[in-house]
Amino acid sequence: MLPILPIFVLHAVAMALLAFARDDQCGTILSDEQIRQVEQRFPRQRRPLSLPSVLTEATIDVHFHVIAANDTLQGGYLPDSQIQAQVEVLNHDYKSANYAFKLVNTTRTFNETVFLELFPGTPMDKEIKASLRVGGPQQLNIYSVGFGTANNSFLLGYATFPYEYAAAPEVDGVVVGYSTLPGGSRKDYNGGQTLTHEVGHWFGLYHTFQGGCDGDGDYVDDTAPEATPARGCPIGRDTCPGGDPDPVHNYMDYSIDSCMNEFTQGQGRRMREQLAVYRGFK
Ligand SMILES: *[C@@H]1O[C@H](CO)[C@@H](O)[C@H](O)[C@H]1NC(C)=O
Ligand SMILES: *[C@@H]1O[C@H](CO)[C@@H](O)[C@H](O)[C@H]1NC(C)=O
Ligand SMILES: *[C@@H]1O[C@H](CO)[C@@H](O)[C@H](O)[C@H]1NC(C)=O
Ligand SMILES: *[C@@H]1O[C@H](CO)[C@@H](O)[C@H](O)[C@H]1NC(C)=O
Ligand SMILES: [Zn+2]
Repeated sequence: MLPILPIFVLHAVAMALLAFARDDQCGTILSDEQIRQVEQRFPRQRRPLSLPSVLTEATIDVHFHVIAANDTLQGGYLPDSQIQAQVEVLNHDYKSANYAFKLVNTTRTFNETVFLELFPGTPMDKEIKASLRVGGPQQLNIYSVGFGTANNSFLLGYATFPYEYAAAPEVDGVVVGYSTLPGGSRKDYNGGQTLTHEVGHWFGLYHTFQGGCDGDGDYVDDTAPEATPARGCPIGRDTCPGGDPDPVHNYMDYSIDSCMNEFTQGQGRRMREQLAVYRGFK
């Protein structure tokens, strides 16, 4: 193994965060060190889960908040039909993990500044979510925006992790670019899998390429390690020595929507554990 690899990977992540012209990507990014600290606490908090061999289905209530510049589609004013189609995509993609989603309510807010400029970790993010969010740790609040400036147009979406809820309940939830919903205008990313991916973070999953080839990676045993995010649909790509090819079909990689079609059993188990420990699901 090349000792220089982790440094290169960290450098690549730092560059991705700094550069302004970048590929479409998720904004849910933690350093390997942050994750190491979070994961050190997780096993200690974990209740022994008696997971039955056939898991019962759990239903997640969804509150969808449309943030729009105006009442046109270009202004982010999503029709109910597209939101419903997105919920159906979530239900399809999470079926193997035994999760179902129920749209409880849709709210619509006009705010062009937020629609265009929203960015993770900012006061604006906190303010707009605090004004719209409903429910507790078990309610999935989704916000759709436009990511319409040079600073944020690379973003497809971003999410909070379950462990963050206790300290910052008001920002809990998932933000998604409105054009990534099924039938949207975002090239290669308009099948609805952006939301599938972001909800994966909300359920406690990391990127499959987290940590590169070494160490604990994404803290799931049955996702093959991966040196860097996959782009497009590079079937057979194999960036780490030994083991299986890269998990390019996994929803937690960066492949295009038409390439993604799986969560592993290990990810399903981690979702159960994360939701039990941090979101109070049985
Ligand atoms: C609606 O908002 C979008 C995004 O800011 C803008 O491009 C478009 O011109 C607006 N349309 C109208 C009719 O105001
Ligand atoms: C749905 O949202 C509307 C508008 O924000 C609100 O008035 C209503 O109480 C909500 N209904 C439910 C069932 O949450
Ligand atoms: C838009 O939302 C931001 C963040 O909540 C708020 O500060 C601002 O006043 C809002 N603008 C309008 C026009 O409502
Ligand atoms: C974009 O980022 C630059 C540099 O950090 C900042 O000066 C500018 O205000 C940002 N623009 C928007 C619209 O957020
Ligand atoms: Zn992500």
